[in-house]
Amino acid sequence: MEIVIVPDPDAGARLVADAIAELARRRPELVLGLATGSSPEPVYDRLAALHRQGELSLARASAFALDEYVGLPAGHPASYRQVLLQQVVDRLDLPPEALAVPDGGAADIPAACADYEERIAGCGGVDLQLLGIGTDGHIGFNEPGSSLGSRTRLKTLTDATRADNARFFDGQVDRVPRHVLTQGIGTISGARHLVLLAWGEGKAEAVARGVEGPVTAMVPASMLQLHPHATVVVDEAAAARLSLADYYRAAWADKPSWQGL
Ligand code: F6R
Repeated sequence: MEIVIVPDPDAGARLVADAIAELARRRPELVLGLATGSSPEPVYDRLAALHRQGELSLARASAFALDEYVGLPAGHPASYRQVLLQQVVDRLDLPPEALAVPDGGAADIPAACADYEERIAGCGGVDLQLLGIGTDGHIGFNEPGSSLGSRTRLKTLTDATRADNARFFDGQVDRVPRHVLTQGIGTISGARHLVLLAWGEGKAEAVARGVEGPVTAMVPASMLQLHPHATVVVDEAAAARLSLADYYRAAWADKPSWQGL
């Protein structure tokens, strides 16, 4: 696992977007795993800028969302399909049909989840998976206690996560759905490269528990410690509680350039 401490989210976004652009040049059919929420927004802004400059095409790529709310009406502005259409599809050349999102409106939820797993496998798996981290250590919507081997399924959000996400629902926590569909931790661990983004002091404790604490279902992000290629990109505030921060800075400063991200 590599920890990269950057001065601010823009610097982190440049680093990650440049790595995605490089991957897309080498492998135009790349499969991206997309997170939603605030953390990846600067990366999507930077990807859109690279596309405008003619330095990035996702015309032959495909993308899988991590998760989706259950029960929101189609086109709801807070639904993750809608968010990714706006932040990624509308600003890049990723074909809309190449974006897959778990079907939170499905009549048969288990079948929709099984279908999602099959679609990911059918694309040959995810090349690069972007992740945020919840203040309770969740990744995707795998709340504490989620099986480390879990696959795409229905989960119930904790009160803390619903309160965190009320900002996307006009501040009304009652409007945040209780149920979601999310890729499981086992599903996420199948991606070839995991890139977790965290900004701000509100994430510092979750980052420290995920990166330096024990591997445990109580901190789903701790699964990154078991992955052969995991990168954690944090700003100084989110890195504040990392006990080996100086070592991570030194290792990054001395990293051979051929290694890439
Ligand atoms: C969203 C997701 C969640 C968020 C996490 C952090 O697709 O999977 O795990 O990444 O809740 O959210 P933000 O980035 O809004 O702080």
